[in-house]
Amino acid sequence: MQAIKKDDLKYKADLKKTIERLKKKRNAVIIAHNYQRDEIQEIADISGDSLALAQAAVRTDAEVIVFCGVQFMAESASILNPGKKVLLPVPEAGCPLADMITAEKLRNKRKQYPHAAVVCYVNSSAEVKAESDISCTSSNAVEIVRSLEEKDVIFVPDKNLGRYVQSQVPEKNIILWEGFCPTHIRVQEEDVLKAKKIYPRAEVLAHPECNPEVLALADHICSTGGMFKYVKDSQAQEFIISTECGMLYKLHRDNPSKRFYLPTDHLVCANMKLITLGWVANSLEKMVYEIKVSGEVRDKALRTLDRMLAVSSGKKG
Ligand code: 13P
Repeated sequence: MQAIKKDDLKYKADLKKTIERLKKKRNAVIIAHNYQRDEIQEIADISGDSLALAQAAVRTDAEVIVFCGVQFMAESASILNPGKKVLLPVPEAGCPLADMITAEKLRNKRKQYPHAAVVCYVNSSAEVKAESDISCTSSNAVEIVRSLEEKDVIFVPDKNLGRYVQSQVPEKNIILWEGFCPTHIRVQEEDVLKAKKIYPRAEVLAHPECNPEVLALADHICSTGGMFKYVKDSQAQEFIISTECGMLYKLHRDNPSKRFYLPTDHLVCANMKLITLGWVANSLEKMVYEIKVSGEVRDKALRTLDRMLAVSSGKKG
């Protein structure tokens, strides 16, 4: 058993060296979402939430972006960086939430509400972004919806995030889409209540993709990036974290004296976990798998993302 563990450590250390060497050779940057495996977050040049990663993708001077996340994130990086090669180490790493809407279905919805603005959560395909007026992430959704002139807003595809935004922006009439994140909806109200009973002093942090009953029990609702900031600033020593388990890596690393608990063992996004050190090395070695969004879809999706980034950086969209 011991020998296997040692071999495993050596295998990972060798892979990390290979990745480091190839990264220099290719002039590549490794960008990773907060839900990635610990060893991927360790080798990442930049890690963060969806908004931080989109902003990082715009700023980088590297020629190659190795995106350790899921398809829609790599697509956004390609849309924002037409001159760079964007690689997704495992092309099957998708997002079931993004797959719950298509461009055609969104066009039909728009026909029903011709005066409404369309806001798409970044967890959506490039085609859906191309059919939308503006994008948002979980960290800026409230700000984006508030910034719109229209009273009616079609919000796609996450109904829980849409409902949460409605609670924060009551002056708007939000038309919801029936999409959801299969990982976040696994947390039940009972799970959080049980965790609160075991850890009565813990603060509850929840991602807005969770069910409304879970959000009602939260002390703070925010994006993954928002959770790091909240924990750092909080006087509390214990936290119940209602989002994907990959968050625990940086929470523990950056707050060694604080304790973190997941309300259920089911908070694992299988797609995010597809990317391993071996696949990152393979990606850099063979320069695969390129994600490229081009043509009219790219132009229209870029406008949608650019509007979001303009509002998020304080300018009017
Ligand atoms: P954020 O990291 O932007 O909070 O998004 C989390 C998520 O659910 C990505 O799919």
